[in-house]
Amino acid sequence: MKSDEITLHRGLQGVYFDRSETTFIDGKQGVLEYRGYNIHDLAEYSTFEETAYLLIHGILPTQAQLDEFDSELKAARELPEKIFDVIDLVKDSHPMDVLRTAVSALASFDPERGDNSPEATIHKGNRLTSQVPGIVMAHHAIRRGKDPVKPSSTLGHAANFLYMLEGNEPSVDAANLMDKDFVLHADHGSNASAFTARTVAGTAADVHGAVTAGIAALSGPSHGGAAENVMQMAKEIGKPENAADYVRDLLSNRQRVMGFGHRVYKAEDPRARHLREGVKNLSEEMGQPEWYQILEGVVDAMKPYARRGIHVNVDFFAGVIYYLNGFPQDLFVPIFAVGRIPGWTIQVVEQLQHNILIRPLLQYTGEHDLDYVPISERG
Ligand code: ACO
Repeated sequence: MKSDEITLHRGLQGVYFDRSETTFIDGKQGVLEYRGYNIHDLAEYSTFEETAYLLIHGILPTQAQLDEFDSELKAARELPEKIFDVIDLVKDSHPMDVLRTAVSALASFDPERGDNSPEATIHKGNRLTSQVPGIVMAHHAIRRGKDPVKPSSTLGHAANFLYMLEGNEPSVDAANLMDKDFVLHADHGSNASAFTARTVAGTAADVHGAVTAGIAALSGPSHGGAAENVMQMAKEIGKPENAADYVRDLLSNRQRVMGFGHRVYKAEDPRARHLREGVKNLSEEMGQPEWYQILEGVVDAMKPYARRGIHVNVDFFAGVIYYLNGFPQDLFVPIFAVGRIPGWTIQVVEQLQHNILIRPLLQYTGEHDLDYVPISERG
């Protein structure tokens, strides 16, 4: 095809590549729905376990269905012993690299290894939902020379995650906020990591491979890594009154303000609202309201950019919540991954159900018909 006949969609911006029944996003209006349910209702009234069930099965569960699903998740929390050895081997890497390695290794221990049917993929994905929090927390313990905290067999998903940090049962409020964070992160259509997972599944590879690749895609600062950078920015700003100057300096140096902007949302990311409330309440409760004030100072300074469709995204308020919960900065992206496993799982299942190899084209802009010169004659 001649180059003037090619329409290039760099970054696949605005390209629909398949159909999905999982997540609806209206970027102009700032609407997000999982399986037809508005994210605001799910954030207010649902739990991570119920939302994960909804994403995977397409309907809200009855109490009996939810209880069964919850038992399945709790039963799968313990990690195979050898995974601790794998984690120990790579413990000095960034937690996302450790998570990627451990999830890849978990494929070898899964009872349905080699079965890539949609049913087995759902079972494996659910087991990953249970195991990933344990990997993140076990690594954090091992790298500090401590024994990993054994998962609780009774606490909910979010409370168990917080419990595994130091072995202390979290307050109901802290667990609820973590749970809300997981609900908000559970899926998000064809974002970079889910697209990556689908591309891997498109070759009929297994869900562990797809999630491993998804974790790699999520780790970058243009995607999940932004929460870590927002916290760094908040620390550098130091006081609410410094926020405006800090943002001005950043923008005048043509740098980006982390936690702002989104490929799809040109209105405020609807997930940010709930985390904003979370930061406000948590920072006041903990006697550190300046964190919320610093973030609002950045929001104020960014107001002129709203006209260009640059608003806060989900990562902007998340980092301070994790910080106030006692998580070190390099665990922020893994927390995102903990919440996202049901989303990656269902995207992979959808892909497998109507599978097609994902294989776009690249427009070649290099040379043609060059003479092959023997190495001895090259200058
Ligand atoms: N701060 C300042 N300017 C911005 C920002 C920002 N955070 N985001 C976009 N812009 C500007 C760009 O400089 C560009 O301006 P220009 O046209 O004058 O060059 C314009 O907006 C369009 O930006 P693109 O990078 O082309 O938009 P894209 O859709 O590719 O980018 C992205 C989306 C990568 C998220 C971008 O907004 C960004 O880098 N944000 C900061 C990182 C971040 O918060 N990532 C988390 C995203 S949410 C998530 O993954 C969960």
